[in-house]
Amino acid sequence: MTTSDTTATDSSGAANQMWGGRFAEGPDAIMQAINASIGFDKRLYAQDIAGSRAHAAMLGAVGILQGSDAEAIGEGLLTVLSEIEDGKFQFRVELEDIHLNVESRLTEIIGEAGKRLHTGRSRNDQVAVDFRLWVRDQCDAATQGLSGLMRAFLAQAEAGADWVMPGFTHLQTAQPVTWGHHMMAYVEMFARDRSRFDDARRRMNECPLGAAALAGTGFPIDRHMTAKALGFDRPTANSLDSVSDRDFALEFLAAASICAMHLSRFAEELVIWSSAQFRFARLSDRWTTGSSIMPQKKNADVAELLRAKLGRILGATVALFTVMKGLALTYSKDMQEDKEQVFDAADSLMLGLAAMTGMVGDMTANREVLKQAAASGFSTATDLADWLVREAGLPFREAHHVTGTLVALAERKGCDLPELALAEMTAVHPGITAGIHSVLGVENSVRSRMSYGGTAPDQVRAQVARWKAALG
Ligand code: ARG
Repeated sequence: MTTSDTTATDSSGAANQMWGGRFAEGPDAIMQAINASIGFDKRLYAQDIAGSRAHAAMLGAVGILQGSDAEAIGEGLLTVLSEIEDGKFQFRVELEDIHLNVESRLTEIIGEAGKRLHTGRSRNDQVAVDFRLWVRDQCDAATQGLSGLMRAFLAQAEAGADWVMPGFTHLQTAQPVTWGHHMMAYVEMFARDRSRFDDARRRMNECPLGAAALAGTGFPIDRHMTAKALGFDRPTANSLDSVSDRDFALEFLAAASICAMHLSRFAEELVIWSSAQFRFARLSDRWTTGSSIMPQKKNADVAELLRAKLGRILGATVALFTVMKGLALTYSKDMQEDKEQVFDAADSLMLGLAAMTGMVGDMTANREVLKQAAASGFSTATDLADWLVREAGLPFREAHHVTGTLVALAERKGCDLPELALAEMTAVHPGITAGIHSVLGVENSVRSRMSYGGTAPDQVRAQVARWKAALG
């Protein structure tokens, strides 16, 4: 039905053994297909078992369950866990979801005591805690993946702190920058992404377990105890909110979308840079593909896929927002549609981070090509204008105009700014002296951009050192 290893039963079966008390007939097969989530939420098995173990231990500790029952449940759940991990567990679609599958098997194994596990609990708070635990792990995985990616960019930046390349606006050559500076721009982006995952994790780290169906429970449960056992900072404070909140998943998706957008931007740069027309950087054979018909081709397929991943991740984000929009409190089955989207987005993100880390680590800059490109397109025109302000005392607007005239002259002659003769320049403005040549070279240009956060190699090295220390 939903997946091949999920056992389907025919619709003539008896009423559901977990909630069939008031049902005379079993569900229609199609009803079961649309209703069951076991095909995908079995992925939450470890979280489900951890949540149940914490719940059972608490029920035992406060005396709601006898100590022996609580212990039997805790042990039995470990048996279920190993059955699942060993691939021996039979997931059953008629048991709807991971919660009922685990509980039913537990009862098969330990008998009567298994039926006591669900005291003071509902699947509503159960799924809320399972999913939160899962998303919390993904935040940690994203943080880790991003740290690795930042290290890969840092290594590139450190090696090429003073390699010049063209900086672009509108994809037109603007001013020379350094390779290291360009790499460090991505370190900043991915650092912000990392802080968004950390921040989301901090906010989601409250435990909804014990909210029960929606109103809390009359049993004297200890929610602080279960929260602590599951590594949460505290229990959530409102039971209605606890079972109906999916903000944590939305925040994860939002952070993942922004991160995937950053991945897509560097992916696009790689596609451009590795093209025969640009040749700014070479991707290793490990991260490129050939063409089945054109022998000369080396395609940046991985970069193209990374450019596309945001489509899926943002799609999942929009999907979950749309599911949650306008839902009256509290839990509605609509919310079962949250998981597949988040699973897919998380998988895409983790794979994307790993692939980008590998690709950046292996990438080689074509220093000569970069340098030549940096010097073309009159990239030091701003330096020339700044020199006129500094050395000849011109107002910037006038300097801009004079420089524009010189650029037009060079363009007519088919040469670059440094190749204009001094006499040609003084004819345009008499304040120009031989000293101007000191700023027309690209190396001097980048060295002069010493403002904090600027492209000067010393600035880049300072940022590399700062981030290396921060990453540890
Ligand atoms: N499979 C359900 C989900 O993913 C679990 C919660 C079911 N709760 C309920 N009242 N039907 O949302």
